[in-house]
Amino acid sequence: MIVGREFVRVDSVPSTMDLLTERATTGAEEGLVIVADEQTAGRGRAGHGWEAPPGTSLLCSILLRPNVKPDRLGVLGLLVGVAVADAIESTTSVQCQLKWPNDVWIDGLKVAGILLQSRLNAAGVDFVNVGIGINVTTPEAQLVPAATSLFVVTGQAISRDEMLDSLCGSLDRVYNDFMENSSGDSMCEWRQRAALIGENVSVVQDGVTLTGRFLGVDDDGKLLLETDDGHRVALVQGDLLMGPRQSQ
Ligand code: BTN
Repeated sequence: MIVGREFVRVDSVPSTMDLLTERATTGAEEGLVIVADEQTAGRGRAGHGWEAPPGTSLLCSILLRPNVKPDRLGVLGLLVGVAVADAIESTTSVQCQLKWPNDVWIDGLKVAGILLQSRLNAAGVDFVNVGIGINVTTPEAQLVPAATSLFVVTGQAISRDEMLDSLCGSLDRVYNDFMENSSGDSMCEWRQRAALIGENVSVVQDGVTLTGRFLGVDDDGKLLLETDDGHRVALVQGDLLMGPRQSQ
């Protein structure tokens, strides 16, 4: 087992991302998991923050050192979403959806977010910092708009330790498949849970908005969009939004 070879638990930290990066740059082995009860400056995708009341969420960063070409990291990002969905489903028996690239939804509301930060070197990938935040016992009144928690959905106070155990197991499984070049089944799992397939969507990429129909993802994890003017494009990154949206 790689994921969870070493655990570091902290009460409060600005962001687990920073602590893990520090450890990674000083030679920590892959599989290290840093878990915090509270983050005072949690970070989300696209420069957003990530808020979680202390003691209510599973907040962790996991160190991976995949010996792969950097262009395979898009797939790894999707597979982390599969691992989070799998961990939630096996701990709670609720069904999750995945919104490209890797937001985890329950009934259209976000229950978990994933932030991947990678550092490259001359040989390829030096390390990947996989940040995961799961809203576990967050009460409804403390959730941000369009978010939910496992407590709100199930009425049960799921243990964050149990969720972490389950997460390490499922992440280890998809990571092994990824490293053995056999992530086809995990990609199928992603597609089975995919939200918004076939819908009219917008993708905002570096301030530019593309609109069209969301066709799915290719085997490199790219989003396939049939644009309103009939072109088929494959997008590596961007924010996927439901429905048309005016450019600003
Ligand atoms: C998103 O915007 O959806 C990604 C959110 C990622 C949040 C997690 S919480 C643990 C780790 N530390 C952070 O500061 N961010 C990630």
